Parts: sequence; C-alpha cells; structure tokens
Amino acid sequence: MESNLKLGCVVLEKSIEKKVQVIIEKMKYGIKVYTYKNFDVLINSIVKEEIDYIFVDIASNRQDLLSFLNKVQEEFPHVVRVLITDTLSNDLVLMANDLIHLIIEKKTLDQNLKNIFLRAARLRNMLKNPDLIKLTNSFNNLVVLKPQHLQLLQYLSRDDYTNKEICEIIEKNVALSAKVLQVANMTAFAPTQIVQSVSVAVFFLGANILRALVLNMQVFSIDSGKGNLYRYISILERHCQNIASCSKTIAIAFNADRNLQNDSYTAGLLHDIGKLVIMDKTPNWEKIQKLSDENDLIIWKAEEAFLGTTHAQIGAYFLGIWNFPDSIIDAVAYHHNPCSCDNISISPLTFVHIAEAMIKENKTVSLEEFQKQLDIDYLDKLGLTEKAINYYKSYLGLTIEVIEEEVEE
Ligand SMILES: [Fe+2]
Repeated sequence: MESNLKLGCVVLEKSIEKKVQVIIEKMKYGIKVYTYKNFDVLINSIVKEEIDYIFVDIASNRQDLLSFLNKVQEEFPHVVRVLITDTLSNDLVLMANDLIHLIIEKKTLDQNLKNIFLRAARLRNMLKNPDLIKLTNSFNNLVVLKPQHLQLLQYLSRDDYTNKEICEIIEKNVALSAKVLQVANMTAFAPTQIVQSVSVAVFFLGANILRALVLNMQVFSIDSGKGNLYRYISILERHCQNIASCSKTIAIAFNADRNLQNDSYTAGLLHDIGKLVIMDKTPNWEKIQKLSDENDLIIWKAEEAFLGTTHAQIGAYFLGIWNFPDSIIDAVAYHHNPCSCDNISISPLTFVHIAEAMIKENKTVSLEEFQKQLDIDYLDKLGLTEKAINYYKSYLGLTIEVIEEEVEE
C-alpha cells in the first residue's frame, strides 16, 4: 500500500537506524525513509522532500538537538517530531516537553513505529486539508502538555507499564488523583465497593481512560481569563463528562464488551477536545459562536465557515499525534457525521453519536429531536436504528416515571 509518507531521520546510533529501516520495510506501507548525517542537511531537505515526520535520537549532542528541534518547531510546525531514547526520565521529559510530539523508548520501537505510521496514514485526508494545516501552523506551538501529563501519557502508551509507575506519577498530583478516584467511583463504572486508592482506580480504569483523563485535565486547565471563555469552558467540560457517561451507559445497554464500554467513555470525554483548541489557539472563537447562535447554525458549520475545518477534525488530528487508538480517533473525527467514517462497525463512534443525539445544552431532548439528530443511514447500516429509538423511548419513560412519582408524593 502506498502511503506517501516521508520520514527524515538523524539517528546517530546505527543499529537503531537499521532497525527503523527493517520495521518500515516489513510494514510494506510505502513509507520513504531519508537518513541524514546531521541536522543541517535534514532541515534543508524538509521542504524539498516534503518530509512529514522526523526521528532523532538522544545520542545527538543535546544542545544541537535542542536548537534543531526549536528550528523545526518554528519553521515547520506541521512536521511531527519523534525522539528515540533508551529510557524515559524526568529530565528528558522536561527538556522535550514543548519540542517533541512523541518519545519512543528503543525497547518499544517495533510496536510503536507500526502504530504511528498506520495512524498517520489514516489521518492523511485530514493532514491534506490545507486549512487545518494552516491553522495548526499558525499556533505558536502545538498544544503543549505539562511535563507530568506528558510523562504519564508516555508511560501509558507502553504495553508493559506497571501500576506502580503510574500511581507514583498520579499521586504526586492532587487534582489528577482526585479526578481518577472520582471517575473510578462513577455510576457508569459501578464497582461493587467504593474505590479508595489510586492504585485500585488505575487498575480499574485501564490505560485509555487514564490517558483521556490526563488530556481532559490538561486542556480544560487552559488560561480562561479571556472574556466569556470561562463560562464556555465550564459548559463544555460538563458536556464532555455527560457524553462520556452516557456513551458508556448506552454501550452497556447494547451489550458491548468491557473494552468497548470503556473506549466509548474515553471517546465521549475527548469528542469535543478540538473546541478547546479553537478557543485557546484562535482569535475567532467568539465570532464562530456568534455566527452559530445568531443564525441557528450548527457549530461545526460555523467553524468551517471561519476556519475551513472543524473541531472534530482538529481534535482527531491531535489525538492522532498523541497516539490514541484508531477507534477513538474515528469517534472524535466523525461524531457529527458518522456515515463519512470508512469503518462502519459497532464502535465508540456509535455510542458517542447516540449520546450526542440525546443531550443538548446539557439536557436530554424530546424523542422527536433525538430522531432528528441521529444519522439514520449510519444506524441502518449497523441495523441499530430501531434499537436506538427504543432505547431512548424507555430512557424517557423512566425519566417521566421518576418525575411523576415525585409529584404524587
Ligand atoms: Fe462536537
């Protein structure tokens, strides 16, 4: 398969360079690898060869490495920057925080390389959207993760992370510990006993949910001192939490397996993350909101009018760079138009889409409105239209019964 991706490497350790070549050849994915002796030659080739990714290793002189990464960040921010290293360290994470998108440990090279390229190839259509690239290029830097968050995400992306390592990082951060415990004890997860320790919560939630919580906390802690931003952010945060719980509840009702239930929660939590990026990084978010409010225009249509791209695409683009699984990226990318997804199967996208149709402005909608919001073609293809409508009917029925009981009392 021809992916047309181009990778530029300055890897001083020859065995690693060879390993990268072998893994890529084995993948038969049509990725062109360019190896360079030093950073200057690579910088000059980025435009000429249209390089998409760069790989560098820590064997390089640290000062040269930093100025190279700074230059790429400033001049070619769309190029994804990956650092290959022996082990993760606090020092390294601090150094690379705002210059590197991903750090790969040598021992996990095989697994991670495949994932990175497979995902990048699937995101190709989005990366080809010139407006999205122009927008992400216009940011001073990509959404920068706090060192502690970045370190945690790196650990969680390994197959062999230990609970102890994860707990040590989470427990250093009071807000994150509280969040992890709160989510582990939520009704949607319904453990038999109250989860009181971070280590039980970490075990219970699993890697994808933990990663989503970290990102959620990171992006919702953006500087909200600008005008009405604070109000919009708190409404959006509540919306994401509601959609996450609701998606998981629907997945349970539809007899999805445990992984799919949890991934639906994760996707719900992250589905509107692109909106935060727009609010934080573009000066247009108030105009977009106004256009949407005054003309009764769906928000993503207003975003398209201003930015040429949508919060769904922006969110999916960043989750791709941050190495989230495809099914979660698809759920974020297509939550407004699931029929456009090329993988039509029961997935987190299904449950996030149904949950989105149920909730508007943090309130449940009428049955008529719910049906209007559903993508019937998509649900028909999955054979789930009737099931979704019946589910919502019984959901509304339960709600009405509860209210009536209260009135009778
Ligand atoms: Fe959305």
